This record gives sequence, structure tokens and C-alpha cells, in this order.
Amino acid sequence: MATACISARSISKTYQTREGLPVNALVDVSIDIGEAEVLAILGASGCGKSTLLRIMAGLDLGFSGDMIVKGGAVKGPGLDRGFVFQDHRLVPWMTVGENVGLGLHRMEKAQRADAIEKKLELVGLTRFRDAYPAQLSGGMAQRVAIARALAHGPDVLLLDEPFGALDALTRVTMQAEVLRIQQQEKLSCVLVTHDIEEAIYLADRILVLSSSPGTVKAVIDVDMPKPRHRASVEFTELREHIYTTHFGTH
Ligand SMILES: Nc1ncnc2c1ncn2[C@@H]1O[C@H](COP(=O)(O)OP(=O)(O)OP(=O)(O)O)[C@@H](O)[C@H]1O
Ligand SMILES: [Mg+2]
Repeated sequence: MATACISARSISKTYQTREGLPVNALVDVSIDIGEAEVLAILGASGCGKSTLLRIMAGLDLGFSGDMIVKGGAVKGPGLDRGFVFQDHRLVPWMTVGENVGLGLHRMEKAQRADAIEKKLELVGLTRFRDAYPAQLSGGMAQRVAIARALAHGPDVLLLDEPFGALDALTRVTMQAEVLRIQQQEKLSCVLVTHDIEEAIYLADRILVLSSSPGTVKAVIDVDMPKPRHRASVEFTELREHIYTTHFGTH
């Protein structure tokens, strides 16, 4: 693997319940993500996937271990990392263009307009710059969320179940879109998902987390050329292997 872009070293995270009881969300999780690598984090609900991603994003600093991004310890969110949530979180009274430009207020006007235009072009929504979020389909709104996350030109894209709220066909289209964008922009990506097929389609490696507490159960290399074909023998065999080995079912 090339030099690590993100390095999680012995990350542990304990939450407190309202009653003050400890919840061990993550215990001793270590993983490296290389430049332009796609890592999928796969695991059952509640195993700590979002917690790990939030720590990478700098949205949660209350953990033990070291989270290193581009050689420096994470001290908070940064322009080097873009984040996409499960729900698009667009501001309803702002246009698509304004939503994409939300974090660019420090740029001068012309430079900002240019950055917005480029990102809308990247996600194929140039024509919708002046539309409002309510006028978009779920898939289009998620494209805008991706454009917004990439507005600053980060090297790393962190995605927390970005397609979980979409129908199955739109999800497949969006997975192909993320692959295209990731390859075009040479992004390092961390994709949290419940969906084994999504992980195999997109990831170079899959980190499987165990539940309660979240620990590293396996790291699986997905050694197939992209774009991958869901009906291929290799793809279906790997899906079968992950189901039976890590999730105990067909
Ligand atoms: N703010 C919080 N306070 C207390 N416990 C929390 C908090 N956030 C998460 N947890 C607990 O930490 C564990 C991991 O949560 P997390 O949200 O990271 O899981 P997840 O794998 O993303 O789940 P899902 O797939 O359902 O999104 C769970 O047991 C959860 O109940
Ligand atoms: Mg989650």
C-alpha cells in the first residue's frame, strides 16, 4: 500500500449512558488508509462504524489512541476531509449552488462561483444550480451533498451510509457515481455501510467490525479490477464468504 493518508492507531472510545454507565463503542481499532484508497467499514448496527468515522473526521475528540491524518494528529474537522451523512442535510431555503458553496464564504465571489460550478459539473448537476432541495430526488440531493463535501477540494472523503435512504436502483447508480468521482479526483475514501455488496463494489479493502464492543474482526482485500460486476463469479463468491464467515447467514 502507498503511504498512509489516515492512520488509526489503537483507537478506543467509551460513551457514557444517561445513567453514567460506560458503553465501549470501540476497543483498540487500528487501520491505515492509503492515498486514493477506498476503505469500506462494514458491520452490524451499533458496532461503532459511525463513531470511528466521526473520530477520523475530527467531530469527536473524546477517544484514546492516535488518529493521524496526513502525518498530523486530528485536532478537529479540517478542509482536508469532506463528510457525507446518510441524510443529505441540505439547507432547504438555499439553492443547490448556495448549498454547495456553504463552506466557501472566505473565498472571493468569482473564485467561489467557479468552485461551485466545477463541483456541480463533477456530480452532473450543473443545470440544477438554481433549484431548491425540495425540487430534487433523493439521489440528486445526495449528489449535492457530495459536491458540498468536495467544495474545498479535500483529499479525503468520509461517507456515513450515504445511500442508506435511497431505493435499491438509485443506490446502484450512486455507487457507480462515487466510483467515478473517487477515481477522477484520486480521493481517499472511507465508506461506512451495512451493505456487503456496496462494500465489495467500491472498496479496495473492507474493515469488518465486530459488535459490542467494536473491534477489528477482519480486514479483507478486494482484489478485483474496477468497475466490478455484481454477477461475476469472484464477486458472488466473496459476498458469500463475507456473509457466512462474518454474519453467519446466507
Ligand atoms: N452519544 C452517545 N451516547 C451513548 N452511547 C452512544 C452514543 N453514540 C453512540 N453510542 C453507542 O455506541 C455504539 C456505537 O454506535 P455507532 O453509532 O458508532 O454505531 P454504528 O455502527 O454506526 O450503528 P448504525 O449502523 O446503526 O449506524 C452503540 O452501542 C451506540 O449505542
Ligand atoms: Mg452509524
